Amino acid sequence: MSQFWIVGLSAIDTTMRSLPITNLALCLFPLITLLGVRENSAVTVPDNRINPQPMEKSTWSMSKEFHCPHMLKHLHNGARVTVQMPPNIEGHWVSTGCEVRSGPEFLTRFYRFYNNNTFKAYQYYYGNNHCTNPTYTLVIRGKVRLRQASWIIRGGTEADYQLHNVQIISHSSAMAKKLTWLVNNTCPGFIPGDLPWEHDVSYDLWKEESSFKCTKALNYAMHELQLIRVEKQYTHHNLENVVEELFLGDIHTDPSQRMYYRPSSYQPPLQNAKSCNQNCISCRIIFRSDEHHPPILPPKADLPIGLMGEWVSQRCEVRPEVLFLTRHFIFNDSNHTWEGLYYHYSDPICKHPTFTIYAKGRYSRGIHSSKVMGGTEFVFKVNHMKVTPMDFATASLLNVFNGDECGAEGSWKVGVEQDVTHTNGCVALGIKLPHTEYELFRMEQDSRGRYLLFNGQRPSDGSSPDKPERRATSYQVPLVQCVSGSLKTEGEHNGQQKAGSQNSAAGHSFLYLFSIIYLVFICTLLHLEVLG
Ligand SMILES: *[C@@H]1O[C@H](CO)[C@@H](O)[C@H](O)[C@H]1NC(C)=O
Ligand SMILES: *[C@@H]1O[C@H](CO)[C@@H](O)[C@H](O)[C@H]1NC(C)=O
Ligand SMILES: *[C@@H]1O[C@H](CO)[C@@H](O)[C@H](O)[C@H]1NC(C)=O
Ligand SMILES: *[C@@H]1O[C@H](CO)[C@@H](O)[C@H](O)[C@H]1NC(C)=O
Repeated sequence: MSQFWIVGLSAIDTTMRSLPITNLALCLFPLITLLGVRENSAVTVPDNRINPQPMEKSTWSMSKEFHCPHMLKHLHNGARVTVQMPPNIEGHWVSTGCEVRSGPEFLTRFYRFYNNNTFKAYQYYYGNNHCTNPTYTLVIRGKVRLRQASWIIRGGTEADYQLHNVQIISHSSAMAKKLTWLVNNTCPGFIPGDLPWEHDVSYDLWKEESSFKCTKALNYAMHELQLIRVEKQYTHHNLENVVEELFLGDIHTDPSQRMYYRPSSYQPPLQNAKSCNQNCISCRIIFRSDEHHPPILPPKADLPIGLMGEWVSQRCEVRPEVLFLTRHFIFNDSNHTWEGLYYHYSDPICKHPTFTIYAKGRYSRGIHSSKVMGGTEFVFKVNHMKVTPMDFATASLLNVFNGDECGAEGSWKVGVEQDVTHTNGCVALGIKLPHTEYELFRMEQDSRGRYLLFNGQRPSDGSSPDKPERRATSYQVPLVQCVSGSLKTEGEHNGQQKAGSQNSAAGHSFLYLFSIIYLVFICTLLHLEVLG
């Protein structure tokens, strides 16, 4: 019996953990849903030994109504996040997985920053989307100097960098030949004589003191060092356990603009190797690597895309054009409809809402991308939209626009939603309906077994991917699944809970009984506190 007590507690703990003390309604809500679940399962309890499915269905309906908005309200799972200003970047930083840059390029990064402002950065490039076959490595040395807090990207720090030396090393003779050809063609005379490069030997692509410079052969720049942010996450079980993340500037989605682009958002963060998440196997592999031993990540299969269900942001996201937002998507694969909620904020920790957009439409699945290994193409249509201004500035802005260009003229009020479908969108917010977007998706499972959904990076020039040729070749930060579309996957998510609860029908009854007692107990306590 004690086993079920533990299961019950931990299950409740995740729901209760970050409840605002004063919000009694929130406290009572899970109680009500749990009671509902109890009622539902009462009929099915005798069968549970044979068929545990009804139980899972109930769990699903409970989470459906509560789980996703809750996750968005408590980004980072209740961990406390602090932003270091100015950032201290000294240390060793590693990618947490195989990264995709526009092009596409598949890479992992290992950057070391020293206390004398110099750095040594390894960029490992690969021939496939799981980073299992390294092709070549760049070793970049230079100096970075922090400037001032960014005026444009709040929460970021601007920096300047200077390259001392860039070396390249290929990991196969085929790649060595290819690079020889590329460099010889881009910078004639750069490679002396007729001798092609060999693999496993380092060659200079850039040397500060000589006129020897040919980074343009690889369309290569280190402009990501111009925008820096360091976040510390204190996980809430253990304040000693800090995960440090280094965000560097984004790479332009159009490869031809890459050399000239000053970052206005971030790439996926690197983690400090010292404080790396223990579940991050890739981090450890990358940390042990060098140019002669490039990291080979554990092989994985491409997950087929199953959009069915609901997905939410895992953090406050930054978009070029200085938007901070969180997203919540609902997909229905059986009728091919989707709904999206975009919560916009004025600050980098998503505390001050500016406006919310609700969009709805249809989607269709395309083929596996021939351009981006591991990606699947989709087409999304938006034909219905609602807007809610959430602060005075946005409401005023919307009211300034005349005529029939965004809802009813001059009628916007803070917190009041308006349908803008009949005005064909909202000119003030740059949205025109109906709208079509050409999308790229991929899925992955994180170290906790949760499903992550990556969709295409928005074009860095602020345009929209409204033509097939504008389809992304890289991805945004992933959304995490909060309601699964099928019982099977939900069962996988709650594997631990399921293992415990499948044991016997009596187990379920105890689980719910204790859950309810526990909730009533907590709610009473909170109630007392509120009244007191
Ligand atoms: C900076 O520090 C690193 C590591 O201690 C060292 O290897 C490097 O030579 C130093 N560079 C300069 C310019 O002092
Ligand atoms: C570089 O290109 C020139 C001109 O095409 C050719 O003669 C030379 O052999 C090439 N060098 C290498 C190392 O391939
Ligand atoms: C499709 O499913 C959604 C819910 O997932 C529902 O709101 C919508 O009415 C359905 N549309 C059609 C045409 O069946
Ligand atoms: C998805 O759409 C189908 C068909 O309209 C509907 O029967 C089903 O209830 C929808 N699923 C969800 C989860 O809303």
